[in-house]
Amino acid sequence: MAVMEVAFPAEFGEAWNRRQVSDALLMGNCRYGLIGPDGTEDYGDTTETAGFFMSRAVLDEEELLLFAIAPQYRRRGLGNVLLGRFIDSARANGMSRVFLEMRRNNPAGFLYAAHGFREIGLRPAYYRTPDGSRIDAISQELTFDN
Ligand SMILES: CC(C)(COP(=O)(O)OP(=O)(O)OC[C@H]1O[C@@H](n2cnc3c(N)ncnc32)[C@H](O)[C@@H]1OP(=O)(O)O)[C@@H](O)C(=O)NCCC(=O)NCCS
Repeated sequence: MAVMEVAFPAEFGEAWNRRQVSDALLMGNCRYGLIGPDGTEDYGDTTETAGFFMSRAVLDEEELLLFAIAPQYRRRGLGNVLLGRFIDSARANGMSRVFLEMRRNNPAGFLYAAHGFREIGLRPAYYRTPDGSRIDAISQELTFDN
């Protein structure tokens, strides 16, 4: 939650609150992964978490719901490592596909493309900012041959 509170731009309302996170985790098909500042896997037992992902699997498809690195730890490769761990674990868990939705022009798109995600859909003007402007939502997927 500490990373959640600082990682997402407030204007898009993308961050989840504690209740939303705990409700999702109680459903049983959601999972999360944490990464420490030094890139090691973090099980919530270290003093500081640098980033996290949260995802939801339905049958053999898994959606990346949340993915963030705290601002002070960005551009050091942690996002790349954490995304790689999500993808590898999804494949190891038998998923045939992972997918996500992102704001057009989110720099995260560079990272998704580098891991082989491709654009599969568009929701025009899906996100609204406080100043009234609109931003498209882009759906992306990565399929596994297994
Ligand atoms: C997206 C995010 C997780 C990336 O985390 P990160 O740890 O900074 O990512 P990395 O350091 O592994 O970056 C890997 C590559 O992605 C690209 N990249 C990452 N952030 C970028 C930015 N702000 N601008 C341009 N390219 C960027 C670069 O190619 C980078 O490689 P480089 O640093 O060698 O140039 C982080 O910026 C974040 O938490 N953003 C806010 C939350 C968010 O939008 N999440 C995604 C929701 S869809």
